[in-house]
Amino acid sequence: MFCPHCERSFLIRNGIAHFIDPRKLEGLNRRFARFYEWFSHVDAIFGKVFFLPMGGERKARKVILDRLDLNGGRVLEVSIGSGDNLPCLLESPTVGEVYGLDISAAQLARCRNFVTKRGWSVDLFLGMAEVLPFKTESFDGVFHIGGINFFSEKKKAIDEMIRVARPGSKIVIADESERLAKFIARIGGFSRSYQGRKVDTSVPVHLVPDTMEEIRVDGIWKMHGRYHGYCLEFRKPE
Ligand SMILES: C[S@@+](CC[C@H](N)C(=O)[O-])C[C@H]1O[C@@H](n2cnc3c(N)ncnc32)[C@H](O)[C@@H]1O
Repeated sequence: MFCPHCERSFLIRNGIAHFIDPRKLEGLNRRFARFYEWFSHVDAIFGKVFFLPMGGERKARKVILDRLDLNGGRVLEVSIGSGDNLPCLLESPTVGEVYGLDISAAQLARCRNFVTKRGWSVDLFLGMAEVLPFKTESFDGVFHIGGINFFSEKKKAIDEMIRVARPGSKIVIADESERLAKFIARIGGFSRSYQGRKVDTSVPVHLVPDTMEEIRVDGIWKMHGRYHGYCLEFRKPE
């Protein structure tokens, strides 16, 4: 595929447009792209088991997806993984076209199989949340679940989600709570990220520009009286 705008060519393999070369990734992005090469085999099962004590996977995903405000429009999932949000997302009559991007080729290959088997139409892209390969103001809703705590450059990723969202649309971001993320970082051995910087596992609400509207953070994924995740949502001004 040739882009006349930047005058570069991009590979399309098995229907997935490649906007990065995984060998050139750095920091935690490099580690996660490699990690998902094997973890993608168990990711879908892991999700089911993880959400079981919190009322099940469907409930855990719906509490986030129900916050999108789509009206039949085009939605982007940043870090779509193996596509585990798609069953909940596509059952909603307010969803139009669905686009998904991920940094892991292995995750996207699984997602593509999942989608093809069900006859769904979802456009998939290999790329980085920090540099989204989409035109400004392309989507009526943008969401992300489950990866941002360990992105190399969170602020850049949030700014990109805002850039590609249309004015007036909702942006919804969810991940594990700070406490759980700290635990995962410790056991996974990635408390330090790019260039030795300590990983900040706080809810990234401080990275959302003040110009955004209806900024709100809620605790989600409750178990034993404690929230194990957060959902950050806001609206891009008209
Ligand atoms: C826990 S999985 C979540 C997948 C899916 N969103 C879900 O809710 O099931 C995290 C995903 O983030 C992706 N990821 C990690 N860093 C990324 C980055 N910088 N840009 C895009 N995707 C990234 C991983 O490849 C992985 O598929």
